[in-house]
Amino acid sequence: MNKKIKIFDLSEQYELISKEVDKNVLNILKSGQYILGENVGELEAKFSNFIGSKHSVSCNSGTDALILSLRALNIGHGDEVITTPFTYFATAEAIVLVGAKPVFVDINPHTFNINHKNIEKYINKRTKAIMPVHIFGQSAEIYEIKRICRKYNLKLVEDCAQSFGAKKNNKYTGTFGDFGCFSFFPTKNLGCAGDGGMITTNSLAKMKILKKLRNHGGLIRNVHQYIGYNSRLDEIQASILLTKIKIINSLDKKRNRIAKLYKSLIKNQLVTLPYECEDNSHHVYNQYTIKVKNRAKFIRHLKSSSIPYGIYYPIPIYKQKALKNFNYKYNLKNTEKVAKECISIPIYPELSSDSVKHISKIINDYQ
Ligand SMILES: Cc1ncc(COP(=O)(O)O)c(C=O)c1O
Repeated sequence: MNKKIKIFDLSEQYELISKEVDKNVLNILKSGQYILGENVGELEAKFSNFIGSKHSVSCNSGTDALILSLRALNIGHGDEVITTPFTYFATAEAIVLVGAKPVFVDINPHTFNINHKNIEKYINKRTKAIMPVHIFGQSAEIYEIKRICRKYNLKLVEDCAQSFGAKKNNKYTGTFGDFGCFSFFPTKNLGCAGDGGMITTNSLAKMKILKKLRNHGGLIRNVHQYIGYNSRLDEIQASILLTKIKIINSLDKKRNRIAKLYKSLIKNQLVTLPYECEDNSHHVYNQYTIKVKNRAKFIRHLKSSSIPYGIYYPIPIYKQKALKNFNYKYNLKNTEKVAKECISIPIYPELSSDSVKHISKIINDYQ
């Protein structure tokens, strides 16, 4: 166990694909075509092909994917969007940035996902959409959520930032809603070498709107139909993603192998391992998040053995200072409890079995 374990490390993965990546990046630099070119078009086509959506529109980030989707649905001032309080801030931030109000629904403490059973009581005349997050790489109860959307005529925007490749009932996340919003942030399962995002949709009309919104509201030079954004994916990032999408299934298998190994090795009554849904779901383990009693003590224990960790997420979103103007009075039981107990341990495709065994042993020693 000489090699220092990191919470996340991309250097080995780069080694694996460096020949192709370097060649493509150099060719792009020589070509002079840097924004919205051939690679972006090819990536959008391959992405749709992989996920099983009719269209894909790339953009600058996962956050922008959410913003553009909400804008394409005309969601804004006076509207409410139901989402989860146990997610990265960007989910709620996107709702606020289009002028709407995020409404938070408590989670299922086992899956960490929004609990669909709690949603209906928050629906009112202002509710326009539900934005579930497939947190840590496991699909939310998306069929149930879709049923609620149909019943109340609400839009469905899936936050798939952490769930590229995840499935529910053998169907990929990002194909259930009006839009699926993906992030290519480097730590994501399909990540680029900077920022990037993708929106999937089956609507030709919405795809056309998205293509305008990401490009200052228009496709023809100096003709602007909407107030849009500068939110385009560049050719270099697209070419790197094209290389990575070719090996994504093998990267996914490696993450799943690590998750299985943790499951077979970690045996400690003070630790609860991630819950995996069994209904033909596929968890892609963007994070391996466990729950522990007395997290501060557990952290001291990990630190004493130099085991890195991450806490996603320590503060329920409704308690974030940035949202204080909404005057939220929530006290969502499961969210509050999970925020205190959750801790993520290293998982990435290149993490060695020896490291997983070592981490598991340290966790088993915790008392
Ligand atoms: C659940 C969730 N939503 C949205 C985002 C935002 O994605 P990006 O960082 O690409 O803007 C992230 C990324 O960290 C995320 O984890």
